[in-house]
Amino acid sequence: MKRIEELTNYIAPFKIIADIGCDHGYLIKLAFDKGLIEKAYAIDNKIGPLDNAKKNLSDYQNVTFLLSDGLDDLPLDTEVIVLSGMGGALVTKILEKNVHKLESVNRIIIEANRNSELVRKFGEEHSLTIVSEKIIEEEDIFYEIIVLEKGKMQLNPLEIKFGPVLLKDKDDMFIKKWTKQLAIYIDKKTNKLDKEIKEIKDVLNYED
Ligand SMILES: C[S@@+](CC[C@H](N)C(=O)[O-])C[C@H]1O[C@@H](n2cnc3c(N)ncnc32)[C@H](O)[C@@H]1O
Repeated sequence: MKRIEELTNYIAPFKIIADIGCDHGYLIKLAFDKGLIEKAYAIDNKIGPLDNAKKNLSDYQNVTFLLSDGLDDLPLDTEVIVLSGMGGALVTKILEKNVHKLESVNRIIIEANRNSELVRKFGEEHSLTIVSEKIIEEEDIFYEIIVLEKGKMQLNPLEIKFGPVLLKDKDDMFIKKWTKQLAIYIDKKTNKLDKEIKEIKDVLNYED
């Protein structure tokens, strides 16, 4: 899975991760297989997904499985937390609930399936800064990965929406994602989307 593979690229140099909403446990499995981590916490708030993780990680020694809501029982030695495959609203709700626990964490790796702008706003409001951003495409779906560490950042509305790093780089995947989104908006033929259409055209340097 390209998405999970890409997420593991942001773990080093840290060795202890907590995967919040681990479900199948593939991220932890891959991180161990790549020799990236020494210890992991597989956390999910539902028994079925956590059982999936237990099954898929049965050959791995240093994994603790926690049936828990978000960061409620986050162990203090956690260096990196990962939240992936959820919407931005759920991700930020989970982080807000236990925001004080982020003080002992070195890095937060987030892949929100939608509403990434909420993640960026959360970071700005809680003295976190974006150290990496990347868009990947898997089976025609675009995923945005946002990596946060402690530090201040100030974002303008465009950076909140498109991502400060992504907007600066405007790599091929960024152009592909927003060109596709532009076509979807234009196709809808509603003037309610005029502002969004103009914004994307400006960002992509389109000339009408
Ligand atoms: C769509 S799956 C994503 C699985 C995996 N992280 C991935 O990226 O493929 C979302 C998982 O988050 C779990 N989840 C949702 N809300 C949660 C919460 N508040 N605390 C812990 N886990 C949660 C769900 O039970 C589910 O297993």
